[in-house]
Amino acid sequence: MSNAETSDTHFLNSFSIVLGILIIVAIGLFALARSLGRVQLKDQMTESTYLSAVQNNIAPFGQEAVAGQDNSALTVPTASTATPSAPAASVPKSGQDAFQQVCSSCHGLGLNGAPKAGDKAAWAPRIAQGMAVLYQHAEHGYKAMPPRGGTNWPDGTIRAAVNYMVSLAKK
Ligand code: HEC
Repeated sequence: MSNAETSDTHFLNSFSIVLGILIIVAIGLFALARSLGRVQLKDQMTESTYLSAVQNNIAPFGQEAVAGQDNSALTVPTASTATPSAPAASVPKSGQDAFQQVCSSCHGLGLNGAPKAGDKAAWAPRIAQGMAVLYQHAEHGYKAMPPRGGTNWPDGTIRAAVNYMVSLAKK
């Protein structure tokens, strides 16, 4: 029995112990990952938004008309048949809505020299020009003020928004 042999045995013993501990840790991590993954997978599969997102992602992006079949679903809406729902639906109903949707992005904080809503000193000289001038500038633009605030809203909506901002400056 040499000295080298006992140190070999000693090495083998501690090596086995370390190996055993590592294997146990690995099994533990594996089990943990499995259980975490299961929770997440279940959530995702039941979440309808996730499912519809998947549907969107795998939906065919092109459609082909096939001779002899019903291709009515493929007709491209023309200007006359397409409902102008997008712009109409986005026209705010009140001056306050209009202000909150668009005008406030500049007039809320007073960006780029825009008269800040509710700032009496900023608005007084502008109001003094008369409402007609304010409407005119709001509809057609004035210096850094973009025409209609960059929207395609009708005059009535723009004027209502001007009225609303003017009313804020008079409070
Ligand atoms: C991109 C930023 C921006 C947006 C959005 C914007 N404005 Fe302005 N507005 C300005 C700036 C800048 C001025 C100041 C122009 C000047 O006098 O130099 C101004 C000035 C005005 C004035 C005063 C004009 C005058 O004669 O003194 C009115 C009224 C006005 N805006 C109305 C509106 C309305 C209504 C909306 C929303 C539909 C709107 N603005 C959206 C930037 C904006």
